[in-house]
Amino acid sequence: MTAKNPKDSLTILTDMVLPGETNALNNLFGGELLARMDRACSISAQRHSRRIVVTASVNHVAFNKAVPVGSVLTIESKVSRAFKSSMEIYVDVWMEDRETGEKTTVNEGIYTFVAVDRTGSPVKVPEIIPETELEKKRFDGALRRKQLSLLLANKIKPEQATELKALFS
Ligand SMILES: CC(C)(COP(=O)(O)OP(=O)(O)OC[C@H]1O[C@@H](n2cnc3c(N)ncnc32)[C@H](O)[C@@H]1OP(=O)(O)O)[C@@H](O)C(=O)NCCC(=O)NCCS
Repeated sequence: MTAKNPKDSLTILTDMVLPGETNALNNLFGGELLARMDRACSISAQRHSRRIVVTASVNHVAFNKAVPVGSVLTIESKVSRAFKSSMEIYVDVWMEDRETGEKTTVNEGIYTFVAVDRTGSPVKVPEIIPETELEKKRFDGALRRKQLSLLLANKIKPEQATELKALFS
């Protein structure tokens, strides 16, 4: 299996916020944004693995800024690390000012996807080789975040989270 770079899975989705997608304050509904982020991450995971992929966990989402109706929103995602069958995907979201075109970061998230076969069983994915400084930083922290996610999901015991524990020693 040939190793890939994060840029091979780069996915950029740009779309508007329409009235049916908002909350009572006329800002984008959180669940709608999560769905858009999930879609972008799913495409990134498919591009990296070239397999069927499923969302295993949403490890982190920060709703930093409200997104008013009519905004043009861009969602950018990339695989930051690949393990055996799972992939961590970073997703950044920004809106652009209608008049100036200035970009404002509104949201970021970290998702885990798993590549599966047609019966839903996990399958192996290609390794990833980070290139930029940011990609290397995200790659380095990914095992720690995977252990935290597995710990919260009750899938490993605290003593197995060695990388995570090392943070506190
Ligand atoms: C995700 C899924 C395939 C994992 O299956 P599983 O039987 O737990 O398989 P495994 O224990 O072998 O885990 C497979 C990989 O997922 C990772 N994983 C599982 N749960 C995880 C979690 N909560 N956080 C991070 N990684 C997780 C495992 O660490 C493993 O990674 P690795 O192979 O890279 O080491 C399975 O739970 C599933 O199909 N879930 C439903 C997915 C879905 O329908 N998503 C859409 C929801 S609407």
